[in-house]
Amino acid sequence: MSGLLEVSNLGRNFGGVRALHDVDLIVSPGEVVGIMGANGAGKTTLFALIAGNLQPSAGEIRLDGSSIVGLSPDRICRRGVGRTFQTARPFSDLTVSENVITAARFGTRRLEARAASQRASQLLEIVGLGARGDQLAGDLTLSGQKRLEVARAVATGARLLLLDEVMAGLTPAEVSQMLDVVQTLKQENALTVLIIEHVMRALMRISDRILVLHHGERIALNVPAEIAKDQRVLDCYLGSQS
Ligand SMILES: Nc1ncnc2c1ncn2[C@@H]1O[C@H](COP(=O)(O)OP(=O)(O)OP(=O)(O)O)[C@@H](O)[C@H]1O
Ligand SMILES: [Mg+2]
Repeated sequence: MSGLLEVSNLGRNFGGVRALHDVDLIVSPGEVVGIMGANGAGKTTLFALIAGNLQPSAGEIRLDGSSIVGLSPDRICRRGVGRTFQTARPFSDLTVSENVITAARFGTRRLEARAASQRASQLLEIVGLGARGDQLAGDLTLSGQKRLEVARAVATGARLLLLDEVMAGLTPAEVSQMLDVVQTLKQENALTVLIIEHVMRALMRISDRILVLHHGERIALNVPAEIAKDQRVLDCYLGSQS
């Protein structure tokens, strides 16, 4: 199988902590892969390694067949990897629009000012922030900041979108809206998506396959229906949720 993203034997230690160990994952173009696991399972570390915010202790990460290990986060972004952060990190003193325009100008396509502005308006409309463009990003609600994170990541021109708990803290109605937003963005931009989420119902609905991490190791990778009845997953993760 040829993957847009190929992760092999990936590992990362922090001192004595084995945050990620020997993880393999091949993601095909257009696929949505959900990532689940208890707190501290290594989910965000996986994203940080793919996006170049952290360097691996072991293993390989390939995008379109070429290694991206050792490249800076901005180079990896320009290769087409966009990520959101678990704790939203907008430029608080810029407006909502300016945040997205900045991403469009410095991403893969380096759009000129007018095109970047048009792209920002279009994306803000899709994520439901169409009326908030002139507001300071720092004044957005949690739900608004999560939407802005998603718009910014897509505005970079990403082909591979890494979403880290964009539904955490949202109401059920907002979760539903966010699922629709991700699906719309995926279809309109031919995106491949990795999505970390604790909201199981949402993850089951949106994912083609789900990767389950436990203490930094891959304990399952399968379609949602199989994950839901995987005994090891039930014992290690789902059991601990009740
Ligand atoms: N920069 C860091 N320095 C030291 N230890 C870290 C660092 N980042 C992560 N860790 C540790 O690595 C392990 C995995 O953390 P990670 O943030 O990847 O987990 P997670 O699955 O995203 O958890 P959560 O669901 O709470 O977000 C944890 O034990 C964490 O304490
Ligand atoms: Mg995390």
